[in-house]
Amino acid sequence: MKVKVSAPGKLMLFGEHAVIYGYPCIVTAVDKRLFVEAEDLGLKDEILSPQVTENKFVRESVTLFKKKFKINVPVRITTFGDLSQNVGLGSSSAVTVATIKALSVLFSEELSKREIFDMSYRVDLKIQGVGSGFDLAAATYGGTLNFVSSGKVIEPVKIKPLQLIVGYSGKKADTSTIVKGLRSKIKYKKTKELIFKIFDQIGKIVRLAKKSLDQEDYTELGKLMTRNHRLLQKLGVSTPKLDQMVNAAIEAGAYGAKLSGAGGGDCMIAIAPEAKRHYVEDSIISTGGEIISIKNNAQGVKLEK
Ligand code: PMV
Repeated sequence: MKVKVSAPGKLMLFGEHAVIYGYPCIVTAVDKRLFVEAEDLGLKDEILSPQVTENKFVRESVTLFKKKFKINVPVRITTFGDLSQNVGLGSSSAVTVATIKALSVLFSEELSKREIFDMSYRVDLKIQGVGSGFDLAAATYGGTLNFVSSGKVIEPVKIKPLQLIVGYSGKKADTSTIVKGLRSKIKYKKTKELIFKIFDQIGKIVRLAKKSLDQEDYTELGKLMTRNHRLLQKLGVSTPKLDQMVNAAIEAGAYGAKLSGAGGGDCMIAIAPEAKRHYVEDSIISTGGEIISIKNNAQGVKLEK
C-alpha cells in the first residue's frame, strides 16, 4: 500500500524568541507544501529525501512511530515538494508532521491532531534540543494560530488571508545556534533582566496584534510588526541585511515590517496596502532580497489523493 500526505510551511507573524520562554506567538501556515509518500515495502527502511536535513527528521519520525506502535515492517518514505529547506519556511517541521501522519494512515493507527503534534514535537526536541514547536503546530493544524511553547496553547485565530510580502535575505539562518546564544545570555542576571523586559514588550505586542487581526486594522498591525522588529534588533538577532530590507519596505509604503523566525538570516515579512505591493517588492529586491510569493492561512496536514 502507498499513501501520500502533505503539510504546509509556516511564517512567524509575531512573538519569536519570547515564545520559547512562555509568551504567546502568532504563526500562520503558508501554501508551500512538503509531500511525503509512505509505502510498506522492501527489506529495510529506505528514505528517499533529496534534502539532507529533512532526512534526519524523517528517520527519527519513522523510529519513534514504529517504536510506539510496535511495528517492524520496513517502509519506504519519499519526500518532495515546493518547500526548500534553505529559506526557513519550515521544511523540517512539515516533513516531520507529514511523515507521522502518513505512517498513521499506512498502518491504520488513528492519531488526533494533538497526538500528531505531540509526537512531532518529541522528534523535533530529540534532533534540535530546543524550540517551541510553533512550526509543527502550523504544519499540523494549518490556518493562523495563537501558540504557547510546547503546545500549552494552540488556538485558531480566525483571520482573512493577509497582504503579506515575504523577502528572503539570501542567507540560511541557524535557528538552534541563535536560540542557544540567547539562552546563554539569560544565564547572567543583568542580561536576563534586560532580555525579559524585551520579552514582556513582545508579549504585549502579540496580544495587541491579535486584536488588530480581529479588527482587520492593518495599519495598526503594521506598526506592531515594526515595533516587534525593533525589539528583535535589541535582542541582537537581526542582521544588517534584514534591517535594510525591513527599512526599505517601510519607506516604500508598507504598513510595517519585521524579520520572521530566529533572525540571523532567512526571511522578513511586510504588510502593505495592495496598491503599494509593487513598490514594496521592488524596494526589497533593490536591497538584494528575493521575493517569495506565498498565501497564508493554508490548510494543515492532509491526506492527498
Ligand atoms: O527560525 P525559525 O523560522 O525556525 O523560527 C524560530 C522561532 C523561535 O521562536 C526563535 C524558535 C522557536 O522554536 O519558537
